[in-house]
Amino acid sequence: MIDIWTEKYRPSRLSDIVGQDDIMRKLQSFVNHKELPHLIFAGPAGVGKTTTALALTMELFGEGWRDNFLELNASNERGIDVIRENVKDFARIKPSNSLGFKIIFLDEADQLTPEAQAALRRTMEMYSSATRFIFSCNYSSQIIPPIQSRTVVMRFRPIKPQDMKKRIEIIAREENFAIDEDAMDAITEISEGDMRKALNILQTIKSSGEMSAARIYEISGMANPKQYKTLLSKAMAGLFDEAREMLDSMMIEQGLSGIDIIRGIHSAIRRELISPRQKIQVIMALGESEFRIVEGSSDNIQLDALLAKLAYIGQEVN
Ligand SMILES: Nc1ncnc2c1ncn2[C@@H]1O[C@H](COP(=O)(O)OP(=O)(O)OP(=O)(O)O)[C@@H](O)[C@H]1O
Ligand SMILES: [Mg+2]
Repeated sequence: MIDIWTEKYRPSRLSDIVGQDDIMRKLQSFVNHKELPHLIFAGPAGVGKTTTALALTMELFGEGWRDNFLELNASNERGIDVIRENVKDFARIKPSNSLGFKIIFLDEADQLTPEAQAALRRTMEMYSSATRFIFSCNYSSQIIPPIQSRTVVMRFRPIKPQDMKKRIEIIAREENFAIDEDAMDAITEISEGDMRKALNILQTIKSSGEMSAARIYEISGMANPKQYKTLLSKAMAGLFDEAREMLDSMMIEQGLSGIDIIRGIHSAIRRELISPRQKIQVIMALGESEFRIVEGSSDNIQLDALLAKLAYIGQEVN
């Protein structure tokens, strides 16, 4: 059986979780004092919310942590009544640890309706002497104020490229392979702060046998930023036919849509060294083409029109 790296390399200690330093400091202090308030972990996907809840539990309870941890998922536990029953059953049995409480981790808590959350709040009160709740959600604003005011909110951030690279390097060492800076940049760019996505790309690319930036872009169905750079400079130099040919091959060989192309050019333009005036004009042109395509206009005509506009903008003297 192959190991899935997101599980194999899920940190089991708070100190191995990267990029959430403030949160880890606070949680470490709770661990040291053997105390814990109710918590809300808010933040985007794949940044360590579940991992942190698990690592925190392991550090608090050590060996017997499993008996002291209940994980529920608000979006698939079929309604608030099932959740409350589960909580009740779990909370009834005395904690098998010296701290005097157990942890209930409720994933996707923002999926519960406000009414369900209100019911949950009452359950929370009822068992609060022997349980601590950790709510996980994307936005803490989706949690009702009475729950918010009884919890400490911790905001998880997207993982910064340098922190992601730290983790990738550790995994590369463990798995015995080399990865160059370009490939790491490609992974951090595509995964946009989502560590789960980064590790999945890393594992896919490792098993494909070719650990290169080009292959990473190819596998994830994204064009290499360098291609957009070339496309943009050809178009702005007025080499319409060459640019169009390049565009066609990106669409056919890499399966990119008109919208993908426009978004790709958009992220490339930000790094491009052209005059601010030209940059603004290009961005306006991109905005217009995107709008038209989304509204149902043909990819082909809009992309041709865009290339024509870029040629026009490129003619202007800086
Ligand atoms: N901050 C981090 N440091 C190290 N590894 C991480 C971090 N965040 C995520 N990972 C890795 O990514 C995987 C997924 O992370 P996790 O399950 O904690 O995400 P999550 O924030 O709970 O996301 P979701 O909102 O989708 O549930 C983990 O198993 C771990 O391998
Ligand atoms: Mg999670």
